[in-house]
Amino acid sequence: MPSFNLSRARAETPGCEFTLHFNNAGASLMPQPVLDAVIEHLQMEAWIGGYEAAIQEHERIERVYDGIAELINGRSAEIALVENATAAWDLAFYSIPFQPGDRILTATASYASNYIAFLQMAQRRGVTIDAVPDDEHGQVSVAALKEVWDERVKLIAITHAPTNGGLVNPAAAVGKFARETDTLFLLDACQSVGQLPVDVEAIGCDMLSVTGRKFLRGPRGTGFLYVRREVLEQLEPPFLDLLSAKWIERDRYEMRSDARRFENWERNVAGIIGLGTAVSYALSWDINKTWARLQNLAAHLRDQLGRIPGVTVHDKGLVQGGIVTFTKEGATANAIKEILRQQSINVSTSTVFSTRLDMEARNLPDLVRASVHYYNDQSEIDRLCAVVEQIKT
Ligand SMILES: Cc1ncc(COP(=O)(O)O)c(C=O)c1O
Repeated sequence: MPSFNLSRARAETPGCEFTLHFNNAGASLMPQPVLDAVIEHLQMEAWIGGYEAAIQEHERIERVYDGIAELINGRSAEIALVENATAAWDLAFYSIPFQPGDRILTATASYASNYIAFLQMAQRRGVTIDAVPDDEHGQVSVAALKEVWDERVKLIAITHAPTNGGLVNPAAAVGKFARETDTLFLLDACQSVGQLPVDVEAIGCDMLSVTGRKFLRGPRGTGFLYVRREVLEQLEPPFLDLLSAKWIERDRYEMRSDARRFENWERNVAGIIGLGTAVSYALSWDINKTWARLQNLAAHLRDQLGRIPGVTVHDKGLVQGGIVTFTKEGATANAIKEILRQQSINVSTSTVFSTRLDMEARNLPDLVRASVHYYNDQSEIDRLCAVVEQIKT
């Protein structure tokens, strides 16, 4: 594993002192600089006024777009700041001018909120939805995608790293095919940005949705949408306001030409500053090193859990990230989560309601989800596994 500065990571993460946090796929522990930035801005708002504080911090807010662009290899004008990944994804999806008979291709790892939107669009506009089968590794089969594609496919929309396991889908192979066929490609990167290197040019996606609070380690209630410049013009947001558009004559408005046509005026400025700080913080690390560290920790955790009698690890995929899911015979996922909680160990659970296609296909019950970040360490993994081992079945 490339060398990794664990003592820096832990020293800069105040939560490490109080809790054993394996819920990074829920919300990661914020690093100190992010916490400071949010609090300082709120303090400034209280002292000089919210609008005045935003004016004072104007440059800093503008740099948030630049930082995100650098992180994902996009351009600042292709970024919209929104309140979470769902808002980002929905804004992109509901901007697409679907017609009856259009097809949407997705994958079994689809996140519930996205699939619900597909269903709504099927009811509203008569589109059809096809979930492309997985390959032998459990990732979306690019060969099957190519087979089911035809001219009616308006959108390919997949989840990069699902909420319910370690899988990392081969987004770049999907993107290459989307480019070749000139098909719109919307990537849900909610669980991947901050966890692994994500490069929109290398992937070839047209739209990408991200949240701030998960592996990126930003504050809650933050997120962003990336929309490729060449695609922006085709997309009219489902609603507009005086920031996304300008009322230029009594009967006329003009939409912004950049991705900020997806934003609206009022915003959580402290959150945005916190998000920008989280992005700068992520850029201060070598993402290849943090990704290797995180994968390694997750592999250790899977290995140790797999040795505990009665425990089954359920992660699939050729490339696996930091989300580890398991069950233990004789104990429900919720019961395990509660027992761990009593020991100040945070995990979460994953149910059919967040990833129905995959959970049904594999006939899975509720899962315990223990998601690692680079700041977790081996002693924490040992403690988690010791408690899981002691749970009576
Ligand atoms: C894969 C995936 N997509 C989208 C979302 C929704 O993100 P948010 O809660 O920021 O809207 C989640 C949240 O867990 C997720 O795991």
